[in-house]
Amino acid sequence: MDESKLKTKSKPKNLILIGMMGSGKSSIGIQLAETLKADFIDTDQLIETKYDLIVNLIEQKGEEFFRNIESQILQDLNQEKFSQNRIIATGGGTVLRAENHKILKQLGLIIWLKAEPATILNRLIKQKNENRPLLKSFSEAEKLNKIKNILQMRESLYAELADLVIDTDKIKNQNDITENIIKYFINGSLQK
Ligand code: S3P
Repeated sequence: MDESKLKTKSKPKNLILIGMMGSGKSSIGIQLAETLKADFIDTDQLIETKYDLIVNLIEQKGEEFFRNIESQILQDLNQEKFSQNRIIATGGGTVLRAENHKILKQLGLIIWLKAEPATILNRLIKQKNENRPLLKSFSEAEKLNKIKNILQMRESLYAELADLVIDTDKIKNQNDITENIIKYFINGSLQK
């Protein structure tokens, strides 16, 4: 937790959730939004509503094409007139593009939901979510390796961007995670 970073941000506009797939961004985001009476936005859902299923985009047009759309969605969110009071759950790979970092920081306060590879794998097995083609058709052992590799590439990016890090292997309960986040950002600017 880096307090000095927070002080450089005068008015938090939105809370942004970053982290690997299966780290709980959507479920925590929904709970945060309900508690804070804020709007909830899931960038994966926005992409699927505006364009096509993520699995189609990646498998038919390629990951680069999907990443372009992901960046575009982020830019759109940052330009919307009433771009405040929102909880925004991002796709796990949003941090890959340097151009997205500036936008994420402008959008608001960034929370990294950190999780170990084994935890991520267990959650993904339970979820059976179809919008993660990057892990499709791998065995569990291969999936674990792939998660480890992806995490290794992204960990420093998540860490660098985060105003607040929640270790979801230590704080496991969803209510506790939400409570911790709210306590940390309790300066009222997100509450209507
Ligand atoms: C991805 C994560 C997914 C989705 C896409 C790519 C990634 O989002 O954007 O499948 O590269 O980690 P979630 O993190 O919401 O699962």
